[in-house]
Amino acid sequence: MNIKQNIFLSEYTTLRIGGRVRYFIECITDTDIVDAVTYADNHNLPILPLGGGSNMVIADHAHNMVCIHMVNTGLDVVYEDESSIHISVGAGYLWDDFVEYTVLHGYSGIEALSAIPGTCGATPVQNVGAYGQEVSETIVSVRVYNTASNIFQGFSNTDCQFGYRDSVFKHSSRGTYIIESVTFKLDKKPPSIPQYPRVSDELQLMQEHYPYESQLMHIRRAIQKIRSDKLPDPHHVPNVGSFFKNVYVNPEKFFELQKQFSAIPFFIDGDMYKIPTGWLIESVGLKGYSRDGVGVYDKNALVLINQSSVYSHDILSLAEEIHREVGRKFGLAIEIEPEIVP
Ligand code: EPU
Repeated sequence: MNIKQNIFLSEYTTLRIGGRVRYFIECITDTDIVDAVTYADNHNLPILPLGGGSNMVIADHAHNMVCIHMVNTGLDVVYEDESSIHISVGAGYLWDDFVEYTVLHGYSGIEALSAIPGTCGATPVQNVGAYGQEVSETIVSVRVYNTASNIFQGFSNTDCQFGYRDSVFKHSSRGTYIIESVTFKLDKKPPSIPQYPRVSDELQLMQEHYPYESQLMHIRRAIQKIRSDKLPDPHHVPNVGSFFKNVYVNPEKFFELQKQFSAIPFFIDGDMYKIPTGWLIESVGLKGYSRDGVGVYDKNALVLINQSSVYSHDILSLAEEIHREVGRKFGLAIEIEPEIVP
């Protein structure tokens, strides 16, 4: 077991914020995981599971914890027939590399989730979604190490209790489950085209530019283009993607809001109305606002960026200010999306 000590977690988060952690263990095999958990138990320390760190806000103080960093990148075909393939992928495999792999092999189901940072093991936690796809639609099972009962166990899709940016893993206390691998079911049939206005325009351009490429690759390229226009590249501008969830309200509440704010955009989702939080933040005048080295991205108000801060407090107090302003104007309580490690 390779144990490092006093590692700065800011080096492992896309927000570039996070204090030192007492022990930091990289895990590839099942034995590595068991050994790391045993080490934490023996030292009576909490566990912090870490993937790509792309959806985490970690406090800048020292953490007396054992950080388990999954770096396993195995990829196995566990089932295949004429119409589909089931691929089990190690938690440490980079998500976008996996998306590229499936696109190049002609497997559909996750192509609209192109260009999302992070690792495969993190995707079930917040049920990663974009442009009409959510990983919950393709995940067959999630293999975890249960640190409470000290066994490896499988969670079926139903066991995961997926919801909008939600799963059972978000509700269990941190460190209970170490996600080891995820099995996805992908289709061999042609992909469905994401029903987003901008996607069809970009798709047409990609078809014209790359006539010999597959439809899957065209979708991937279109999404890559759209995301690069609307979301800051974490390699250059530290961020965690959407900092808040969109707001779901019932029709009664929605019509009440619409009476007051006639321009309010909405998307009908089942029997609920989804209101884009980006619009709410823009409407309170905070798009492009910055203070204390952190700010609201000027091309997309749902994204907070770290311009020069090393303090988690800066980003969280900006989030609080936004929460307060949106609450004051619209009477809506917006929720933070990334995981907060206090
Ligand atoms: N909008 C504004 N101003 C803004 C930003 C957005 O008015 O500054 C409004 C517009 O009305 C726009 C609407 O918000 O039509 C929706 O915007 P967009 O299509 O960019 O999607 P989103 O709701 O802001 C969600 C996900 C993204 C995902 C996109 C695309 C959440 C929390 N976020 O964002 O996921 O890429 O849809 O499907 O659901 C992430 O989770 O980190 C993430 C980037």
